[in-house]
Amino acid sequence: MDRYSRSDPVRRRLRRLTRGERVEEAIAFLRQFAAERGQDPKLMSAREKEVCRELCRTGRYTHTPDELEFGARIAWRNHARCIGRLTWKSLEVNDRRNVVRAADVLSSVLYDLSNNYRDGKISSAITIFSPITDDHTPVTFESHQLFQYAGYLKDDGKIIGDRNNIEITKSAIKLGWNPPYQQGNFDLLPVIMRDSDGTRHAFNLNHELAHEVAITHAAYPGLAALGLKWYSVPCITDMILTMGGIDYPCAPFNGYYMATEIASRNLVDERRYNLMTDIGVALGLDIERGDPFWRDTTLTELNRAVIDSFRSAGVRITDHHEASAQFMEFSRQEGRAGRVPSAEWSWIVPPQAGSACPVFHLPMKNLHSVPNFYVSRHGDGAELGIDRTHFRESVWRKRWEREKKRFRDWRRRRDRLWDRA
Ligand code: ARG
Repeated sequence: MDRYSRSDPVRRRLRRLTRGERVEEAIAFLRQFAAERGQDPKLMSAREKEVCRELCRTGRYTHTPDELEFGARIAWRNHARCIGRLTWKSLEVNDRRNVVRAADVLSSVLYDLSNNYRDGKISSAITIFSPITDDHTPVTFESHQLFQYAGYLKDDGKIIGDRNNIEITKSAIKLGWNPPYQQGNFDLLPVIMRDSDGTRHAFNLNHELAHEVAITHAAYPGLAALGLKWYSVPCITDMILTMGGIDYPCAPFNGYYMATEIASRNLVDERRYNLMTDIGVALGLDIERGDPFWRDTTLTELNRAVIDSFRSAGVRITDHHEASAQFMEFSRQEGRAGRVPSAEWSWIVPPQAGSACPVFHLPMKNLHSVPNFYVSRHGDGAELGIDRTHFRESVWRKRWEREKKRFRDWRRRRDRLWDRA
């Protein structure tokens, strides 16, 4: 058994739960599972008892495959920063808790991804590896996404590629990755993973897996000359899935793109590709005459270019109007189910056409409920917890006290037997 220091980079990000809080989240989770899945109350009660006992004796318990699937879907439904949650019920959940080696973890992710890529008709899916426990850290991804482009800071201060990835590019090089001889704006980075013992590895990805789409615009042939492209599938690899008091730090998930992510942010943000001016010029817009709206035209046309290019390549993508409408439907659906949808306005409202999207006018509240996904307890994980309007301490306290007493009695009996032997 290995011991971990607080400086372990994965543990440093984990939510800190007391034993009592863990029990509370576990019971709340089992009750929610039972309520939403229509589980027989007798089964629920037996399961609660079993989980309490496990938590009391070992500090952990194992989710059943059904609980795992349910928990992952609810984590998505609860995630306040995602506009695409209308289809939360159909999230595909791949249970890979038995896969342990870094290379095997990566192959299962790639295998699952190839299955839900489906010739571009991308479906939303998650692959879940083993949870973290007091004495075991599973393999994790250090990379933020499966596919990412390198960023290089040159000696003369010039930047090539994605500014956001300059640090991770340096790590990749230190771990033995060789960037192409001619460094480009879209060099696919290797995936960086961390073993149970903290050793890091960089794995190269086959280019074909990224299914890159070249960005062109039928009405502005000048755009193609910039050589812009993007990969097909956003697959987030570094978020921690938390459910029922158990944390899964290796649970990569993917959806499909909304065009603004690429066209209004990745390619134009100053901290990313910073290409607003270049694209404006490539579209032939008069950016110098003091007409401030050239930027609006640039963004709109780049969004159109991204959408059209993805569609012609047969790759699923959505635009911000469609996504907003779907979020409104999600919101209504949640209301009908008697729930308040959790949402963070600054993340839900698209970076394009703000008030023309109905979500702009929707009052929103982040409820920070678990199950959920988070990056770190120092940020988005800080306020996560169970929804106390529906769940009081008295619900689980009694069962827990009973279980602790049972355990103490059992230990006493055991010790007495030992004494006699
Ligand atoms: N915004 C991120 C990107 O541009 C991806 C986040 C997840 N997006 C999604 N559509 N599921 O790569």
